[in-house]
Amino acid sequence: MKYFVSLLLVGVLLIGCSDQGDSPQQPGISLQVTGFTVIPHYGTDSVWVELTWNQTPNAESYMVHRGYGHEIPNEMLARVTTNTYTDLHLDPEATYSYQIIAEHGQDVGESEVKYMVARDTLHYSSVEAILNNSCIACHSGSSPSGGWSVSNLGVAVSARTLLSFRGASNSIIVKPFEPLASSMYLRTIHTNASLRMPQGGSPLPASETNKIRNWISQGANP
Ligand code: HEC
Repeated sequence: MKYFVSLLLVGVLLIGCSDQGDSPQQPGISLQVTGFTVIPHYGTDSVWVELTWNQTPNAESYMVHRGYGHEIPNEMLARVTTNTYTDLHLDPEATYSYQIIAEHGQDVGESEVKYMVARDTLHYSSVEAILNNSCIACHSGSSPSGGWSVSNLGVAVSARTLLSFRGASNSIIVKPFEPLASSMYLRTIHTNASLRMPQGGSPLPASETNKIRNWISQGANP
């Protein structure tokens, strides 16, 4: 029996050594982030969120990522070595997504994506006002520019048929919960002036493009 155990030990040691090649890590290292919790604080003057997660034994640092609505969080807010992060000064009208990415050298591991809902609910009327001011001149009538009209958009919002409401290039004009997949938002913030809407006009102010983004991030409520 003793002989067998020592043989087994030698075997394990040999396997252990043969794995120490170029890779800086043991195979099978886990960087998955567990216990990710998002605690929102809805103050009357400000909205902020506390993020906490379990320390991952193998992590050297963590990236905190954020997005809008149900998007895969794509904006890196911070890189931290602690297992908490506070995201201050949030837009009370926006819905956010968060994810923690643990890092060890070149390797990464993810947490679940968690969401934080907006404090203030937005309805289509606040977006419709912007469209009526800046878009309806061309996006109306029986052959609207870009193949969509503001009035037909209103119908699709009420009927909740936005996923099949497409423009001339087959783009989804408003994809609920996903501003970055909604051509209405993307075309108003486009960096190429010839593609940016309103076409030929001055760009919408950030207060208006944010309103459009936030309304979509909340799910494009009627
Ligand atoms: C002066 C006329 C004009 C105004 C004002 C205007 N657009 Fe357009 N829009 C167009 C034209 C023309 C097209 C088609 C050419 C193109 O795609 O660039 C278009 C295309 C689009 C498309 C692409 C649809 C598709 O799938 O092909 C979107 C989205 C859009 N506009 C949104 C807007 C929004 C939002 C506003 C208001 C902020 C606006 N437009 C104001 C003329 C206008």
